[in-house]
Amino acid sequence: MKAEPDLNRITLHDHLAHLKEYWLAVYGFAPSMIYEGPYIIKNIKGTYKKYKKSFPRLLYEAFFKYYMLGFKPSEYFEYQLYKNDYKTYVPMMELIKGSKINRMAGDLLASKYLFKKKLLENNISAPKLIAFYNHKGKKITHYEKPDNKKVIIKPDTGGGGRGIKILESDNYKESLKSMNRDYIVEEYIKQHSFLNNIFPGAVNSIRILTVKEKNNYKFLKSVLRTGRNTSKGVDNFSQGGLSIKIDTETGVLKHGKTHFKHGDLEHKTHPDTGFNFYNKKIPFYDEIKKLSISAHKHFPMFGIVGWDIAITKKGPVIIEGNRIPGLFVYQIHEGMKPYLIDTVYYTET
Ligand SMILES: Nc1ncnc2c1ncn2[C@@H]1O[C@H](COP(=O)(O)OP(=O)(O)O)[C@@H](O)[C@H]1O
Ligand SMILES: [Mg+2]
Repeated sequence: MKAEPDLNRITLHDHLAHLKEYWLAVYGFAPSMIYEGPYIIKNIKGTYKKYKKSFPRLLYEAFFKYYMLGFKPSEYFEYQLYKNDYKTYVPMMELIKGSKINRMAGDLLASKYLFKKKLLENNISAPKLIAFYNHKGKKITHYEKPDNKKVIIKPDTGGGGRGIKILESDNYKESLKSMNRDYIVEEYIKQHSFLNNIFPGAVNSIRILTVKEKNNYKFLKSVLRTGRNTSKGVDNFSQGGLSIKIDTETGVLKHGKTHFKHGDLEHKTHPDTGFNFYNKKIPFYDEIKKLSISAHKHFPMFGIVGWDIAITKKGPVIIEGNRIPGLFVYQIHEGMKPYLIDTVYYTET
């Protein structure tokens, strides 16, 4: 079992974790030039005229000009830098800032298990913790009994929806024993009918960005992410899910978009279910805003957090807090720099 973290102590482990994240951001950027090449060329080959630039010009801008400014080639197309002002966008290279701001904040958001315990201790609404699997000791610690027929198992440290499985409540134990990482088991969320109607094959969550300014906590932006038939039961954008713009003031849904790799198209209806979400309001929107702010107050050591929040018929529940939140899901709709420029993201070095 993991020891409870001492929040004031910065360990060698914290320094190493930070270094690893820093280099992941750098390495994630460097090879993008090569691995993004084939799908970019495939996506723009027949359609490059719509960008109103010649084919060689597009390639020069995507693979050299804006790359030198820190943007991945795919970001050039996702953020429409062929016509939009790049200065309003945060390039991939600056995602490292997110890692720097939170570098000394410890493990609390890196481990889904520690995070979950912290939420439960503070009565913050979250799906039930069913069990924790310690792979070294091959030991399952049981917590609550699930009410739902399904559970979800997730690697304790992981991201992007990788390694997640949805299983029957009465036979998850066998699956855990074959795992070679620590796992948490959670009750499978029964989502609100509004979200289930958009796409029932995954729990569709709101991704929220909150920042801390001295002792003031601010709600910056949110998008709704929905799964696709191809996104393996989760809604993560990197698994091909949709990111739908939410009007910050009203909670009304606008256009949805997918990652450039999965076809950079705009949607007013869900591409698999046909459900028309455009101009519809998210249920419990004000409660969602309040929940993300009150949750951040329990994690004051983090300057910026990306929250995954699901909605049930009773209201919002927190799935996860991310300490190096990706900005793609927001920036495919609009540049985030104006919103971040006066926050810790740019003011802290
Ligand atoms: N308890 C749950 N019930 C149903 N779906 C869930 C649950 N927890 C997570 N999911 C789905 O899996 C996705 C990824 O889960 P998350 O905990 O955010 O892990 P990751 O770090 O891989 O993003 C969520 O956005 C949601 O679609
Ligand atoms: Mg997540």
